[in-house]
Amino acid sequence: MHILLTAGPTYEPLDPVRFLGNRSTGKMGYAIAEAFAAQGAEVTLISGPSYLPDPASPRIRTVRVETAAEMYAAASEVALEADVWVFAAAVADYRPAKVGVDKIKKSGETLTLELVKNVDIAATLGQRKRPEQFAVGFALETTNELAHAQDKLRRKKFDLIVLNSLRDAGAGFGHDTNKVTVLDAAGQIVNFELQSKAEVARGLVSLIMAKLNPAP
Ligand code: CTP
Ligand code: CA
Repeated sequence: MHILLTAGPTYEPLDPVRFLGNRSTGKMGYAIAEAFAAQGAEVTLISGPSYLPDPASPRIRTVRVETAAEMYAAASEVALEADVWVFAAAVADYRPAKVGVDKIKKSGETLTLELVKNVDIAATLGQRKRPEQFAVGFALETTNELAHAQDKLRRKKFDLIVLNSLRDAGAGFGHDTNKVTVLDAAGQIVNFELQSKAEVARGLVSLIMAKLNPAP
């Protein structure tokens, strides 16, 4: 079994020394890569900038990228032959419209940046998904969590969506623990306990494996 996994943030350059980014560390995605490898799967981990070292497992091939466009290019090469797609990356929704060749110099009291929309990696690949392929997305919402997550699941053709909780202390960006709720296309909801990201990853992988090979 071959897993395509996106993880970490993307960095969108503004000039040679600055970028727009976000607080994702890649911990959840890297933990999922390790959990799949421990089950014998081959993983292509497409990672945005993360301080985490490449996972040591020989079953995990790590591809380092920086921008959403690079992540999309790397993911679309692998998507065709991967059995499972997991989109754990915090992809920047927008990038600076112009990337300065030279460092932007300080001038007026205000500075306005124009941003343009990035490619939606999950949604674009979703258009090419074959019936036997399985896609898992992530969502982080602060209002109407379940409704927004369900809407993303449908729009991006996910089979499962993992909703990150921001309400619980100890969950989310940078933490070693996480609390998630998983929704499937049939409307089934599974609540996970607050636990280590490694435990959440193992739980998600066994849930995905069970959906792929339902008990007779
Ligand atoms: N995603 C992606 N490419 C993007 C944006 C998001 O592949 N350009 C994926 C994420 O990896 C995640 C899912 O889509 O699995 C949902 O991401 P999220 O940011 O929650 O959704 P958006 O559609 O960007 O909506 P919004 O940020 O407005 O909530
Ligand atoms: Ca987004």
